[in-house]
Amino acid sequence: MSAPDDSVRLVEVGARDGLQNERLTLSPSIRAQLLTRLVDAGLRTLEAGAFVSPRWVPQMAGTSEVFKALPHRPGVTWTALVPNVQGLQAALDAGCREVAVFAAASEAFSQKNINCSIAQSLGRFQEVLVHAREAGVRVRGYVSCVMGCPFSGAVSPRDVAAVSAALYGMGCYEISLGDTIGAGTPTATRALLQACADVVPISPLAGHFHDTYGMAIANICAALEAGVRVFDSSVSGLGGCPYSPGATGNVATEDVVYLLEGMGIQHGVNLEALVDIGSFIDAELGRTTASSVARAMLAKRRAAGG
Ligand code: HMG
Ligand code: MG
Repeated sequence: MSAPDDSVRLVEVGARDGLQNERLTLSPSIRAQLLTRLVDAGLRTLEAGAFVSPRWVPQMAGTSEVFKALPHRPGVTWTALVPNVQGLQAALDAGCREVAVFAAASEAFSQKNINCSIAQSLGRFQEVLVHAREAGVRVRGYVSCVMGCPFSGAVSPRDVAAVSAALYGMGCYEISLGDTIGAGTPTATRALLQACADVVPISPLAGHFHDTYGMAIANICAALEAGVRVFDSSVSGLGGCPYSPGATGNVATEDVVYLLEGMGIQHGVNLEALVDIGSFIDAELGRTTASSVARAMLAKRRAAGG
């Protein structure tokens, strides 16, 4: 499902990429409530959790329960991360109809994150793709550390392109390029996309930017100019990276929606509702929003006595 030129498809990853990195573990019921409210606000592709080892990521335990509590709505895609066939089976059992596999462009990150080399992970994902195809389930592919690794430093665009091409070649319908440590700049984003577009068409490429250095929105602008029309984001900028001290979460969905609104690009999301959802989940987690737009809008509401 690609977006027309004047529209962007947002992939809401707050309930997975966000919550997996928060200190508190929320119950499946609160996570399902968050996801349902995000759908009510207009989001149509949402990561609902991860079928990974609860010993590795305790925050994602209970993802099956989350799936069972989600509403079925036409046009809404609920998806989840799976690292192997065991995860895929759990996803299918929970009624999940789309999954994502996650590779890295850095060997060190691959080892720390999924306990195997990049090549081993691609072998596992190939198996996942075969079984998913038999089950009629679509698979998205992630590449982490596309503009730097928290363990090994610089990552070359050529390495990112090679992993992207491998995932695309095995049948992933979309490749999400993750700036896991938020180190990218617009110049680096352009170089990255150029390298990837040499081996994968631009339409299946998605941008997944973190805002650690405050560059996420600038990087999204660069990616939009390069033709990317799918972006991952996280309500209230939930998350961070457990391996990257001080890293903030994904770019806040509120900030991306505000940007798109200003650029006249369609997105289908109600910004006021999004800000309310951010306040709801921040209260559950005992945190304050990482979204500049939400902060500004909440201050304006307060000033207006709302
Ligand atoms: P391992 O220890 O090497 O696995 O972990 P194993 O195959 O040796 O199995 C060990 C135990 O794990 C066994 O249980 C398996 O059954 C169990 P035991 O016999 O000891 O009781 N196991 C599982 N349990 C539940 N679900 C599964 C599963 N597979 C095996 N699917 C493994 C390897 C991949 C499982 C582990 O490393 C893992 O779960 N890692 C997940 C890490 C993760 O989720 N990281 C965050 C996502 S990536 C990311 O955030 C980046 C991204 O967001 C992009 C960006 O932000 O830039 C995508
Ligand atoms: Mg992320």
